[in-house]
Amino acid sequence: MKKTGLLGIFERISSGQFPQFKSLWTENKETSHDSGAQTTPAAAPEPAKQVILKDNPSGIAVGLDVGSSKIVAVIGQLNADHQIEVLGIGEAPSEGLTRGSISNLTKTTNAIKEALEAAIGTTKLEINQVIANYSGLCNNLDQRGVIIREDMIKDIRSEDIIRLKKEMEGNPYPAGEQIVYLEPQHFIIDDEPDIRDPIGMSGQRFESDFHVITGEVNGINNLHKCVRQAGTAIKTIYPTAIASAEAVVCEEEKEEGIAVIDIGAAVTSIVVYKNGIMRYADTILLGGNSINADIKQFTGLGSRQAELLKKTYGSVLPEETDSSEIIQYKILNGTKERFISKVDLAMIIQSRMEELISLAYDKIEEALKGRCLTCGIVFTGGDSRLHNIRKLGEQITGLKCHAGTPMLHLKADSSQHELFDKLNDPIYATSIGLLKMGLTKLV
Ligand SMILES: Nc1ncnc2c1ncn2[C@@H]1O[C@H](COP(=O)(O)OP(=O)(O)OP(=O)(O)O)[C@@H](O)[C@H]1O
Ligand SMILES: [Mg+2]
Repeated sequence: MKKTGLLGIFERISSGQFPQFKSLWTENKETSHDSGAQTTPAAAPEPAKQVILKDNPSGIAVGLDVGSSKIVAVIGQLNADHQIEVLGIGEAPSEGLTRGSISNLTKTTNAIKEALEAAIGTTKLEINQVIANYSGLCNNLDQRGVIIREDMIKDIRSEDIIRLKKEMEGNPYPAGEQIVYLEPQHFIIDDEPDIRDPIGMSGQRFESDFHVITGEVNGINNLHKCVRQAGTAIKTIYPTAIASAEAVVCEEEKEEGIAVIDIGAAVTSIVVYKNGIMRYADTILLGGNSINADIKQFTGLGSRQAELLKKTYGSVLPEETDSSEIIQYKILNGTKERFISKVDLAMIIQSRMEELISLAYDKIEEALKGRCLTCGIVFTGGDSRLHNIRKLGEQITGLKCHAGTPMLHLKADSSQHELFDKLNDPIYATSIGLLKMGLTKLV
C-alpha cells in the first residue's frame, strides 16, 4: 500500500527521491509532529442557556465565519429578485483558534470585533445577531423524534417541525456534546412513511428520522462567549461544511448526490448530500497548516515564508509540473542561497494532500452506504486554490471533482463588481453560506 502524508514523504526521502532533504530528515526524524493529546474534562459541561435575541434591522442577516486563519463578517439582504446583496464585509486575522476550536477567548473576541466593525463600516447598521459556524469535531447520529398533535385535522405547519426538532434536544447525547445541527431525513405521519414535505398534511402522530450532528459543548459555549463579548449574539450555528455547501452547490446537485470538502488552514470540513438530504458532516483535524509545516520542515524556511512558497509555486501534481523550474530562497538569518525544484515542492504538497483527500473520501464512502455521488466532489476553502487539486481529487476518488467558489448566489450588477470579484473566492465559501442561511432558512 502506498503510504501518504509525512510517512510517504519520509519513505521517498530515505529511498533517495528527495536527495537535497536527506540531512534534514536525519536531523528531524525524532521530532513528534503533533501529539494529539487531549485532556478529559472532569465533569460534562452544560450547554449555554438560551438568551433573548434582539432583531437585526428588517431583512438584514450577518454571516460570521470564525476560521483558524481569518475571521470574516458579511452583512447582506435579499433583493426583489431574491438574490443576495452584500452590504458590507470585514475581515481580521485569527490567532485564537487551535485545530478548529477557540483556544484564546481574548484574541478571538478582538478579531470578531474587528471583522464586524469593518463590515458595518459605512452602513451604520446596528447588528444584534449573527449566524456563525462550528469547526470542531462532530458526531453523526440517526435518531427518531415523535410528537402527538392535539388537533389532527389542522394542517401540519413549520411550527410542528420546530416542535419536533425541539423534542430532539431532550434525547441523551454523549457527555460533553450537544446538537449543532439536525436534518429530517423523511417524515412519518400516522405510520405513513417516506414523506418529504409534510407541510399542509394532517395527522396526529408526527414523526421524523433525523440525522443529528453533535459538537463539543465547551467549543460552542466559547463561541457564544466571544461573540457576546464582541457586542452581538449568535442566532444559529451551522457546522462549517454545511455553510460552505450552501454557497457552492445548488439544490439539484444535493438531489443527485454531492460532497463538499472545505480545506481550511487548520481543519478540513466535509458534508455529504444525497436525494436532497444532508447525510453526514464532520471535521478532520488537518488542513493547509500541515502542508506549510511539511514545507517548513524540508526547506528550513519560517512558517510565513513556507506558506508563501506554497501559495506562489505550489501544485499537487509533480508529474504536471515543469521539472526545469528551480526556486531560489534564503532561510531567516541564512547567508547561503538554497534551492528547491517546483517538482519537489509539488511532491511535498501532494503527499499531504493525498493523505487529507483519502481521509475525507473514506468518511464520504462510509456515509454513502453504497449510494452514488452523481455530482462528485466540490473542493473549497483556501487550500482548494492549489493548482491541480481537481485532478488529484479525481485520481484518488475516481469521481468527478471541481473547485467551488461562492459566486453562484451573489448579485452581479455593476455596483457590486469589485465586491463580486473579491468574494468569488473559495476562502469566502463559509461566510457567504452562513449569510445565505441567515437570509433564507426559516425552519
Ligand atoms: N493561493 C493559494 N494556494 C494555496 N493555498 C492557499 C492559497 N491561498 C490561501 N491558501 C491557504 O488556505 C488556507 C486558509 O484557508 P481558509 O481561509 O479557508 O481557512 P480558515 O477558514 O481560516 O481556516 P479553517 O477553515 O481551518 O478554520 C491556508 O492554509 C492558506 O495557506
Ligand atoms: Mg474555514
